[in-house]
Amino acid sequence: MPRDDEFLYRLRSANPIETVMGSYVHLIRRGRNYVCSCPFHSEKTPSCTIFTDSQSFYCFGCGAGGDVITFTMKIENLDFMEAVKLLAQRSGLEVPERNNTDSRLAQRKTKIYEMNRLAANFFYTNLIKGKDKSGLQYFAKRKLSPATIKKYGLGYASDSWSELSTYLRSKGYSDDEIIDAWLGGRSQKTGKSYDMFRNRVMFPIVDLRGNIIGFGGRVLNDSQPKYLNTSKTPVFDKGSNLFSMNFAKNAETKQIILCEGYMDVIAVNQAGFENAVATLGTAITPDQARLISHYAEEVIIAYDSDGAGQKATQKAINHFADVGIRTKVIHMEGAKDPDEYIKKFGAERFRMLLEDSFDATDFMLDKCEIGLDLSTELGRVELLNRASKVLAGIESPLEREVYISRTSQKCEIPVQVLKTHIDDMLRRSRRSEQKREWRNIQSAATYQRDDINPEAVKYRREAKAEESIICYLLKHPEECDVIEKEVPPELFVTAFNKKVYSAMLDIMKEHEHFSVSMLSDDFTFEETGRITGIAARNREHPVTGAVFEDCANVLKNYAPKDSDNMSDDDLMDLFKSKKK
Ligand code: UTP
Ligand code: MN
Repeated sequence: MPRDDEFLYRLRSANPIETVMGSYVHLIRRGRNYVCSCPFHSEKTPSCTIFTDSQSFYCFGCGAGGDVITFTMKIENLDFMEAVKLLAQRSGLEVPERNNTDSRLAQRKTKIYEMNRLAANFFYTNLIKGKDKSGLQYFAKRKLSPATIKKYGLGYASDSWSELSTYLRSKGYSDDEIIDAWLGGRSQKTGKSYDMFRNRVMFPIVDLRGNIIGFGGRVLNDSQPKYLNTSKTPVFDKGSNLFSMNFAKNAETKQIILCEGYMDVIAVNQAGFENAVATLGTAITPDQARLISHYAEEVIIAYDSDGAGQKATQKAINHFADVGIRTKVIHMEGAKDPDEYIKKFGAERFRMLLEDSFDATDFMLDKCEIGLDLSTELGRVELLNRASKVLAGIESPLEREVYISRTSQKCEIPVQVLKTHIDDMLRRSRRSEQKREWRNIQSAATYQRDDINPEAVKYRREAKAEESIICYLLKHPEECDVIEKEVPPELFVTAFNKKVYSAMLDIMKEHEHFSVSMLSDDFTFEETGRITGIAARNREHPVTGAVFEDCANVLKNYAPKDSDNMSDDDLMDLFKSKKK
């Protein structure tokens, strides 16, 4: 990792983690440290701690953690160098030239961005100038103007298995690279590669920085699947990006219109609303809700009017409630989706629809009435049951009062009775919420199941010793040579801890100042969190030299118990080492 650690050290000093995190979330002081509601998962009681002495953060609820660079990477959806550049810019530091040498992963990502841009241009030119006019005819039929086609860089992938690959190869990219970008695939039978998108109109997906991260491709007829979307690549994660967010973020309003499909967003945008976005072929995720909440104060859900769209609306409302953003829902009649609505009734009527959109609570309460006969007592009781859940979910006490009184009238019961009932529910749910969050914290600490280091469950004692050694190393980076001599990485039993330990030693030997984000090439965000957590959980009982010796002995005395599971080579090695 050819990184300039002197510069990174200056960068971290110039950007105290409490200042940077404080600009995103509300911090509460706790002695020398701070706590906050975790920006990476939804919770009611703050379990994310910021340690000012080690300049790190760790969430005891979800296990997210790292240093100021890790935090910036995750919250802004950036890679390491991009996060470094952003922090440098904010603190007025200049990134030294030699620091710009990109890592392997960064190079791979750059290649994919380049290929995606070339592909998008290729599809666009093919749409506009190609002999085959079917793509252009399709968009004309869908009433898209040339300006809109250009704005979104829409395109057409011909009915060919090799046109795009041939073009990209002529630009110097290999088949493997084309496949890495998900622009090509490889046949299992023949081993030959082929174009992924064929005979489809193409929708480039652009991130907040203007990079093309992937594509959606729609068939021109009724065949299936209707849309083919880029699958996971190093630059594309469908759950954390939104279609057209690159335009919506610059809109002059603090409102975002959330649609179901690419075509809806484009139609709404063409009708003059810059602030429309859609998910990328999946239901909305908490990550996406959070992303929207960074740019808007209010979201208007404009999903399809069919059953599926209404179900999806309810789910979306819950996600937006979790991130604390005002949510409204449009009520569309006479059309199945915004695209069709605008075509049928025009942009002005759509604007009125937006203005008439009603509150998410109204939407949810209306849904409760479906199938009930309110003229009967039974119907009213059932409505009370259903509505209570919605009412108890309203965060604002004032708003809750208003809806409680409205519901009590509808169900013909005294308002005070309903209010007492809802207050009871709230108390109970707060208590169970706290219990649940506490349980999460506990189970994370006791490793009943471990997704990051699965072997830790089987080799409990050894894994614990390994963690203490890692912890000791984190505290005493200047002693890394001695520590390595005492406990070489080969002694580690669990693969994950071994990888962490070796990577840390490698970096510490080369650099004076270690910080966990320096591991970001080889470890995911979740893994970085785990590494930070090892230190965070050991704070109360620091690992002393004596404890370190004990742990070293645990690993030295470890002998694989289940020789049945060993390969012949491993067995031979074991015999040899025993002989010695
Ligand atoms: P829709 O079926 O509502 O499509 O799916 P649409 O966007 O309105 O497109 P038109 O009007 O039929 O042309 C909504 C979204 O669901 C995803 C796409 O993101 C689409 O925009 N989807 C749908 C898929 O990813 N794959 C599919 O096969 C279908
Ligand atoms: Mn549609």
